[in-house]
Amino acid sequence: MEQKKIPVILDGDPGHDDAIAWVLAKASPMLDILAVTSVCGNQTIQKTTYNAQRICALIGLETQVAMGRALPLVGDPIIAPTVHGESGLDGPALPEPAFPPHSKSAIEVMAEILERHPEPVTLVPTGPLTNVAALLLAHPELKSKIARISLMGGGVQFGNWTPAAEFNILVDPEAADVVFSSGIPIIMAGLDVTEKALIFPEDFQRIRAVGNKVSQVVADWLEFFYGFHRKMGYPGAPVHDAVAVAALVRPEILTMQEMYVAVETQGEYCRGATIGDFRGIAGKAPNAKVILDIDRQAFADLLVEAAAYYQEKEA
Ligand code: RIB
Ligand code: CA
Repeated sequence: MEQKKIPVILDGDPGHDDAIAWVLAKASPMLDILAVTSVCGNQTIQKTTYNAQRICALIGLETQVAMGRALPLVGDPIIAPTVHGESGLDGPALPEPAFPPHSKSAIEVMAEILERHPEPVTLVPTGPLTNVAALLLAHPELKSKIARISLMGGGVQFGNWTPAAEFNILVDPEAADVVFSSGIPIIMAGLDVTEKALIFPEDFQRIRAVGNKVSQVVADWLEFFYGFHRKMGYPGAPVHDAVAVAALVRPEILTMQEMYVAVETQGEYCRGATIGDFRGIAGKAPNAKVILDIDRQAFADLLVEAAAYYQEKEA
């Protein structure tokens, strides 16, 4: 019997690893992608929206692309050109958008989908949680139409943009606090697992050897993304965002622990930290399944498999 598809909305700040996460999502028969929404993060909202459109054109994802929030709920944006380049998706040439962004905002498009879809929808945010929080604040009545949130963000043991905070959470801690306090089931792909989700140069070659247009671009994205990380001593590219998709399509390669996670919105040193209560000391009910480990080889194989999906798509 054919397995029921999971309806999802992909929300991100592409971003090389967002792009690879979306390549994986489109290649996964288990997922029904209802929309793609952009958020400010790795680059400005204009650039992340343009990148979202170009990724959809590259992978033949014919879904609505809606522009999200240009600013975090509180504070100024933080962008990451040192990691993703001035465009936010530097490296290989990409096709121009096949169609303009939706005339409505990401929050309006998300709300309409949740209102109309016959079953609850899974949100897959891989950038700052600004859009998701804005959706929950504007439409609390739609909370029950969100099945779960499989997000890339945070880290219960360390940060990457400050010693305490991971980039996506640090950009908008108030938004993250809204999401983690919402009561909606959360799968958290934080740095604890994503820094183990390393794709090595030999994996880049395996993907390139698949030999279709998408696989070439993914290999080029990995080469570019690895450039920043190699200088920091990483043996491979941590494809953070694809873990949030893998949690839906291949959960058996992951190790998760349910725990209460709090988001720090104050503090000179710890703003944006995600504090995981491993031992239940706070006496609060768990609000997230925190992913702590990954079968790296199986993850690399999953990306090679996803690249091969586009084989039969050649004209
Ligand atoms: O810290 C890693 C996260 O920040 C990833 O989602 C990457 O794309 C950036 O948004
Ligand atoms: Ca991202």
